[in-house]
Amino acid sequence: MKEHTKKLEILRLLSDGHFHSGEELGEQLNISRAAISKHINVIQSWGLEIYKVKGKGYSLSTSIELLQQELVSHNKLPKPEVLGVVDSTNQYLLNNMTSLECGQSCIAEYQSAGRGRRGRSWVSPFGGNIYLSLYWRLDDGLAATMGLSLAVGIAVVEALENLGCSGLKLKWPNDIYWNNRKLGGVLIELSAQSGGAAHVVIGIGINVDLSERFTTEIDQPWVDLKTILGQNHIRNKLANALLVSLEETMKEFECFGLSRFVERWNKYDNFKGQEISLQLGNGTVTGVCNGIDAQGALLLINPDGLTAYNGGEISIKKQ
Ligand code: BTN
Repeated sequence: MKEHTKKLEILRLLSDGHFHSGEELGEQLNISRAAISKHINVIQSWGLEIYKVKGKGYSLSTSIELLQQELVSHNKLPKPEVLGVVDSTNQYLLNNMTSLECGQSCIAEYQSAGRGRRGRSWVSPFGGNIYLSLYWRLDDGLAATMGLSLAVGIAVVEALENLGCSGLKLKWPNDIYWNNRKLGGVLIELSAQSGGAAHVVIGIGINVDLSERFTTEIDQPWVDLKTILGQNHIRNKLANALLVSLEETMKEFECFGLSRFVERWNKYDNFKGQEISLQLGNGTVTGVCNGIDAQGALLLINPDGLTAYNGGEISIKKQ
């Protein structure tokens, strides 16, 4: 991460959205204008739009709110690690798992290899969105993780609601939706040995200010918080709200499993009562969505009656 110190310093100066000349940046960082120009090229590859204007210098297309550990921190959890550039926040915690304390988290400005569910990549430009991961140890082992991702989806929705975001929904198992468009997602990765505790990394990605430029890289309709709330400088506040909500959720989940979450999940279900298709490994089933059961399985009403499904990908049934 060390090699990015200068670039992060440049971004700290540019974060105000104003123009800064190459000379000024060079003086502040004690490097040449040519070196600044090289750093700017790399910064652009991190997904930031930078204007270069002769006689004026460099400016970001919009101001950005950089992450600050003291604003993100939640007093009941270890201080989150704020990372500039990382491959994936989930991978970062997985790599360091043996030395982590339960409740440790990290949040990044940019992920070079952010990942989503089902082997997809997660578009993660610098400074615009939330890329947060939390490590938790569930002493009751693998069986105790059943339904966890649904509880986490609720935790995310409740954190967003506390910031004034309304109309949020969940798409089974844990996509965060607004107006039938994806606002965020949850990726849970875990390691467990038989009979031992389950070590869980909970990764959360939320679009806060995502440029239309990324639409071609995303395989479904999406939305960001800037569109919903009309503001984008809320990443620190949101990251803190997420940690507060996750801490409560994990404690509740540890004591009661999914039981306390089923009703809440069904309230947010984006597809309840709708005819949907569920793509399974070996084909597609259709039926009317009827929420989830006590284990977190998706319930469909189809000619076989009420059927529970543990895997698959929902889509709206084609007419
Ligand atoms: C999904 O496919 O909907 C899940 C997306 C999860 C993205 C988050 S961003 C933080 C964490 N680190 C990753 O590499 N992925 C998750």
